[in-house]
Amino acid sequence: MSAYKTFHERSIKDPQSFWAEQAQLIEWFKPFDQVLEYSKPPFAKWYVGGKTNLCHNAVDRHLKTQADARALVAVSTETDQEKVYTFKELHTEVNRMAAILKDQGVAKGDRVLIYMPMIAEACFAMLACARIGAIHSVVFGGFASHSLASRIDDAKPKMVISAEAGARGGKAVPYKPLLDEAIQLATHKPDHVLIVDRRLVEFTKVVGRDLDYATERAKHMDAQVPCEHMDATDPSYILYTSGTTGKPKGVQRDTGGYAVALAASMKYIYGGQAGETMFTTSDIGWVVGHSYIIYGPLINGMATIMYEGTPLRPDAGIWWKLVQDYKVSVMFSAPTAARVLKKQDPAFLTKYDLSSLRSIFLAGEPLDEPTATWLHGAVNKPIVDNYWQTETGWPMLALQRGVEVMPHKFGSPGVPVYGYNMKLLDDATGAELGADQKGVVAIEGPLPPGCMQTVWGDDERFVKTYWQAVPGKMVYSTFDWGIKDKDGYFFILGRTDDVINVAGHRLGTREIEESISSHPNIAEVAVVGVEDKLKGQVAVGFAIPKDANKTETLEAEVMKTVDSQLGAVARPARVYIVNALPKTRSGKIVRRSLQAIAEGRDPGDLSTMEDQTVLAQIKTIMGK
Ligand code: PRX
Repeated sequence: MSAYKTFHERSIKDPQSFWAEQAQLIEWFKPFDQVLEYSKPPFAKWYVGGKTNLCHNAVDRHLKTQADARALVAVSTETDQEKVYTFKELHTEVNRMAAILKDQGVAKGDRVLIYMPMIAEACFAMLACARIGAIHSVVFGGFASHSLASRIDDAKPKMVISAEAGARGGKAVPYKPLLDEAIQLATHKPDHVLIVDRRLVEFTKVVGRDLDYATERAKHMDAQVPCEHMDATDPSYILYTSGTTGKPKGVQRDTGGYAVALAASMKYIYGGQAGETMFTTSDIGWVVGHSYIIYGPLINGMATIMYEGTPLRPDAGIWWKLVQDYKVSVMFSAPTAARVLKKQDPAFLTKYDLSSLRSIFLAGEPLDEPTATWLHGAVNKPIVDNYWQTETGWPMLALQRGVEVMPHKFGSPGVPVYGYNMKLLDDATGAELGADQKGVVAIEGPLPPGCMQTVWGDDERFVKTYWQAVPGKMVYSTFDWGIKDKDGYFFILGRTDDVINVAGHRLGTREIEESISSHPNIAEVAVVGVEDKLKGQVAVGFAIPKDANKTETLEAEVMKTVDSQLGAVARPARVYIVNALPKTRSGKIVRRSLQAIAEGRDPGDLSTMEDQTVLAQIKTIMGK
């Protein structure tokens, strides 16, 4: 049997010994009594009785061996800043931030919402929370007031950490007014808002609530805040993600299992070594940012690059320049970014010395063959696709070069990662499918360490949403369609639910629909994901106005509504104003027919549709 097969099989058949061994990759304050406790499926408890801390493993632990090595490189091509923090300096800053939090009464188990651009202080904030056992909830900077408000009400943070503005493409993007509006909209009110003033825009302060980071930091220059001894099963963070309903789900992650899972993934999948540098081009607001900008590389003793800016400014060579300057050995990005770079002058790729780079990992959306081939040709390094979700926190499917170097197959992220008992199931019967049959990608419990523990505050939703989606079997549904070939390689074929993937950003069409519906002149709306050459998918809306005489500026108004409520990230590419939507006789909107039309495909069997002429009308409106 191949090394991979043996490794994977052992992880499934004997998870206790397999994960006990991986647990040695991190430091524990107290050893665990039991590796896995699974008496109440699907709730898996990893490393029961063990005590550890994510910040200790990411920072303090490295002080013994590499205090003066690079830990964090914060680069902003927006503000022309580049600052390097060693592990010792990172430790000092995290202690200061932790002292500020403690000073404001934030304690173990309290939630802290982080709404920040890609600046070093965001990293300090996340690690400071981990240090004192506060549960962070990072909200992507591209989200606006309504998205923020719903997350504030769900997580009930004691404190919010933010900045007055981010910056993109040479322009300041104010954060503070959106945050103020969100707090006003929310029922829950945080005690304090800590603001990093970057002096990018003017802003107003709420007296008594808002604190200035520089002023508070100055009070704690010599702070020494010990790492809280966390139970391995204590939650470390909440990260909201979209699903079928409009209400985002708070994915809750543990502490010990997550630390071990990340450490193991660095060894077997990403292949990074302590002392090297990892460059992940995502954002801390997404799961890739949590796992592979902040915790993964740092736990592994690697330096990490936080980059604020676009891949094209000052020119399309900027990422490769960073690879050269910081001798990046592992890079992680998304296919969309590669597609963006592919359109630029190829000279940018040969201009810099990329000899330090071993591989480029891509995840978050399907990797198309032309993009993979182009990138491989351009950099001459292995391009490694990997498939996972916010819920899992680390890859489910990948080629695991640290276990065995296996052949790559175009269009496939590879084979099941150790710890994941991956199945392809018939969506109607739950029966396991054979090679080359399309089904739902599912995981048989227990989920391995590092995956979500539950939906924050809603165990029932966790069970109902994820574990009862496939009939006849209690398995975790990924909500992705997939197919497996005879060699066990999986191919991912898109979502089974209403989640769309725009430039690797996961969005719920129902959330966008709710926002569009809130416009006073919208009666009904459907939003679908439509194939896009650059972004993979874009959101396209079809809306029926209440007053058909007032539609001249309606599309623009609706876009503005989405912008201000959810944020520019959720703005549809188009919202067509239509007079009817395709519906079944029972009144359900047939979204797949809209998607087919928008993609120029045959909408298929329409016999259940109430009014056969509706699609023809929509086609005319779209000019198709
Ligand atoms: O549909 C799958 C797609 O992205 C979804 C998860 O998105 P998110 O929660 O934002 O986590 C991204 C973590 C990398 C999945 O359900 N997806 C993710 N990776 C791939 C992918 N689709 C195809 N190929 C991939 N490598």
